[in-house]
Amino acid sequence: MNLISRKHKLEVNNGNVLKTFTESISFEKEYRILTEAFHAGMRVPEIINVNNMTIEMSFIDGPVYSELKKDMTLLQIHSLCQWIFEYHNLFDGPRCDCNPRNFIWHDNQCYGIDFADPLNYSYPEHDVGSLILFEIMHENGVEYLRIAHEIFRFFKDRGYDPKLIHEGYLAEIGDVIYRQRKYFNRKYDGAALDLSLWDRVVTSE
Ligand SMILES: Nc1ncnc2c1ncn2[C@@H]1O[C@H](COP(=O)(O)OP(=O)(O)O)[C@@H](O)[C@H]1O
Ligand SMILES: [Mg+2]
Repeated sequence: MNLISRKHKLEVNNGNVLKTFTESISFEKEYRILTEAFHAGMRVPEIINVNNMTIEMSFIDGPVYSELKKDMTLLQIHSLCQWIFEYHNLFDGPRCDCNPRNFIWHDNQCYGIDFADPLNYSYPEHDVGSLILFEIMHENGVEYLRIAHEIFRFFKDRGYDPKLIHEGYLAEIGDVIYRQRKYFNRKYDGAALDLSLWDRVVTSE
């Protein structure tokens, strides 16, 4: 069990997760997405109760995707991609936060758990590019090319525009540079990462 958050208070109560928000815009986004996604049959935590800015939701038991690391199986990759694909078929516009810590492998399927990012609209390819960057930013990106390529191919096969996926990937590099500077006062060489790895994301077999 690993309930760690920089932004929200998280605790387990009677086997459920209590997530307390400080910003109403984040609370409202998470409440809306969780409710609509659950009713549409997507794999997300079920809301048990809501009290002020606290959502009580079911606990999804299992490793988060960032813990699967480079051993992530094809089944796990495809289940994650399928989840994001369904999300974007259901919600026309709001981005999903594609950090692998926001997805849990439970009961042989992928669950999405975090919708607290304030409303942030984009095209679906933006999230796919972002997901690919999150994967190859792991310790040694080269070892994650297999996963990145499978993600790229999954969405290309379903009609997502490869140029827009690349744009989303570049946009996420920009966001990483911003976050590294703002929260950790570190520099990040985004250009080197893009030039050395993007072509291999597209072509690697
Ligand atoms: N419903 C849940 N079931 C299981 N684990 C959860 C659940 N909600 C949160 N967690 C755990 O807590 C971590 C942080 O929660 P998250 O909702 O992503 O908060 P934040 O918005 O601060 O990132 C997740 O990465 C996950 O490990
Ligand atoms: Mg999160």
